[in-house]
Formats: sequence, structure tokens, C-alpha cells
Amino acid sequence: MTVREHWGSRFGFVMAAAGSAVGLGNIWRFPYVTGDNGGGAFLVIYLAIVLGFGLSLLMAEMLLGRTAQRNPVGAFRQLGGRAWPLVGYLGVLTGFVILSFYIVVAGWTLAYIGQMARGLLHSRDPDVLGAAFGQFVADPWQPLLYAAVFMALVAWVVTGGISRGIERANRWLMPILFVLLLVLVLRALTLPGAGAGLAFYLTPDWSRVNAGTYFAAISQVFFSFSIGMGTMLTYGSYLSSRENLPRAALTVGVLDCLAAFLSGLMVLPAVFAFGFSPSAGPGLTFITLPAVFAALPGGDLFGVLFFTLLAIAALTSAVSILEPLVSYFIDEHEVSRARVVAVASVVCFLLAVPASLSFGPWSDITVFGMTWFDLMDFLANNLMLPVGGLMTALFVGWAWGRPALKALSNDGDLPQPWAGVWLWVLRVVAPIAIVWILVTNLS
Ligand code: PFF
Repeated sequence: MTVREHWGSRFGFVMAAAGSAVGLGNIWRFPYVTGDNGGGAFLVIYLAIVLGFGLSLLMAEMLLGRTAQRNPVGAFRQLGGRAWPLVGYLGVLTGFVILSFYIVVAGWTLAYIGQMARGLLHSRDPDVLGAAFGQFVADPWQPLLYAAVFMALVAWVVTGGISRGIERANRWLMPILFVLLLVLVLRALTLPGAGAGLAFYLTPDWSRVNAGTYFAAISQVFFSFSIGMGTMLTYGSYLSSRENLPRAALTVGVLDCLAAFLSGLMVLPAVFAFGFSPSAGPGLTFITLPAVFAALPGGDLFGVLFFTLLAIAALTSAVSILEPLVSYFIDEHEVSRARVVAVASVVCFLLAVPASLSFGPWSDITVFGMTWFDLMDFLANNLMLPVGGLMTALFVGWAWGRPALKALSNDGDLPQPWAGVWLWVLRVVAPIAIVWILVTNLS
């Protein structure tokens, strides 16, 4: 077996993990899901889930990886044996499902960089911008071409390996991303009429909350934190045991929440300022923000910056969705990195074809009333990630149990009583909350 690669520095690891967490989930999905679910109240529930067990699960995954120094399947086999590796296999499968729709949306962002740069989206009229977006995504070829280009970029970074590929990309891209985000938030907040959006976003309206709100929030936490499919486990497996995991997990969690919160601040005030509906769904970012840019002096430049930001965020996340399955094939089947990446990328692209066509020629083909794109999104976010997270919590809390505490505290990582709280969160709080939300919504 070849020697396992490791991150070059602590900063590099934290940036890579934050790069995984901060992605389309924060900038594209979070604002429209918040808009769909009543604004402020959703934000509160989201944060409660993060503090309740999201951070604990993030740390549990990193710990599993750091201890086992293996891919998800290998880690569960080494530390648990019996049927536990199935959780790892579920993660590998989830990676394919998520990438199949992720690269489609990421492709849209690439296309929009070009459209902005050429000044093609000059309108403040929601109908015109909505029609332009609808027409673009319904095209059978163009979005696929962009998805292919994006997949090739992901493959290029992942082929570079851990420190020279993934870490290097993240060290540069993540700080740039935060600077761009701040610039755009400032611009959105100073738009005339932004106040109504701010009120919608920051004042909880509890009358809009129902069981579905909790379901949306829990799925969003799993997706945004990159937990439940072994991504953080895999990134943790490239750590040496000296890393202070609680601090790393907390930093990543805070950066991720901050990016989501700022994205809401960037999109929702603008939505209200221009009289759009906050529940416009997946098109929200692509339809609303061009209107903001059209209204600004130098707006095209802001537009190019924004979609570049989105593409960067998507790239560093997509890389992390691919890595667990790549590391599985390298560890368990001794295939070379370049070869797994090439094959897996082609498979993901083929799976993306029906997802992309869901917005055009195949929009009428539905399963359980959902298009292929919606079905993949639903399966991954509402089922596979929560179930993967549930099994991980049960595994670390009960099957691994006390030795997990020992593995965590081998270098004085987490003082008592926090270590004990962490274990009980995994044993009781996370399982009960996840099962309760899944059962009330799916039955
Ligand atoms: N966290 C990423 C985002 O918010 O866009 C998406 C993601 C990455 C999901 C990695 C799952 C994963 F394992």
C-alpha cells in the first residue's frame, strides 16, 4: 500500500474543509430555501440544529478519519467491522448522486460569468431575467457543455492530490471568496428598499413554521456542513494526529454559517428591493442578482465577480464530493488516483445529463412527481445525508463509544465536561432529532 498523503499545514486543512462546506449550498441554496421557508424563523431553526448536533457530527466525522487514516468504507471497517462499512458505501454512492446535480448548477454559474461579461443580462425586469434564465437552462446542449467543463476542472484539482491539488486550490480561493462576498453584501445592503428584505430575513415569523420547515433546515445543515457522506471523514484522514479537532471543527462550522448568513444578506434584501418573490426557488440567485447588477454603475463587473465567487465556491466543494470515492478506490482497490478520477468524472457527467435535461426536454418525465434533478436533490439531501449522519452518530456514540473519547483526547483536545456532552449528543440528541424529523415528514 502506498504512503497516505497528508495536508501540508493546519491552515491548509481548515481552508480545505471550509472550502468543502462553503459552496452552492450556502450561496445558491441557502437564500432560496430560507425564502421558501419564511425567512427569520428558518434561520433560527437552522442555527439551533447546527449548535444542537451539527458541529458535533462534523467533529465526529473528522475524528473517524483522523483515527483510521482511511476512506469512509475502510474507516468503518477498521473501527467497527461487521455491517458498519455499509455506511461508508452509502457515502460513496451519495457522492455520485450529489455530483450529478451539483455540476449542473455549477455549470450555470460558469455560463453566467460569460453572459455577465458580455453584458447580456441588462434588465431590471424580473420577467425578462426569468425568461432568459428559463431559456438558458432549457437548452439541451449548452448547460451540459458547461457542466462538462466544470467537471473537468474538478477532475484537474483532484488529480493533483491532497497538498498539491486540493489544499493549494483552497488556500488561494477561500480568502478570495470571503472578500468578494463582503463586497457584494455591502452593495446589496445599500440598495434603496433593502430594508424590507432585511426585516424578512431577520425577524422570525413563527406562523410560517411547520414540520416541513424542520425538514428543510436539517437537510440544509447536512448539505452545507458536508456531513453524512464521509467527506469530512476523508479530509480528516489526511490529518496527522496532532491536529486539535474541536478547534478545527468549530472554525469550519463558524465559517460555513457566516458564509450562509452573508449570502442571505446579499440576496434577500436585493430580492425585496426589486420586487421579486423570495420564494422563487432554485432560479432565485440567477434571476434576482442580475437585476441588482443591472441597476448599478459598473454592475457588469459586480456580476462577473459574483458568478466567479459562486463558481469558486462550487469548485472547492465539488472537489470534496469527489474525494471520498476517489480515496475509496485508491485505498481499497489500489487503483491510481488519475485513473479513478478520470472514470468517476465520466460517470458523474453521464448522471448529470438527465439532471440537466430536467429543465428542458425531459421536464415532463417525473418520478413521484419530481423531475430527475429534483429527485436526486431530494434523495441526497432529505434521505441519504440524514441517514448517513444518523448512522455515523450511532456508530461513534455507541459502537465506538468510550474509545472515541480517548481518540479525541489523546492530545488534550476537548476538556471535560465537553467531551462527555459531545458523546451524549451523538448517542441521544442527534439520533432522536434526526429520526423524529425524518419520520414526521416522510410518513
Ligand atoms: N457543502 C457543499 C455546499 O454547501 O455546497 C456541498 C457538499 C459538499 C455536500 C460535500 C456534501 C459533501 F459531502
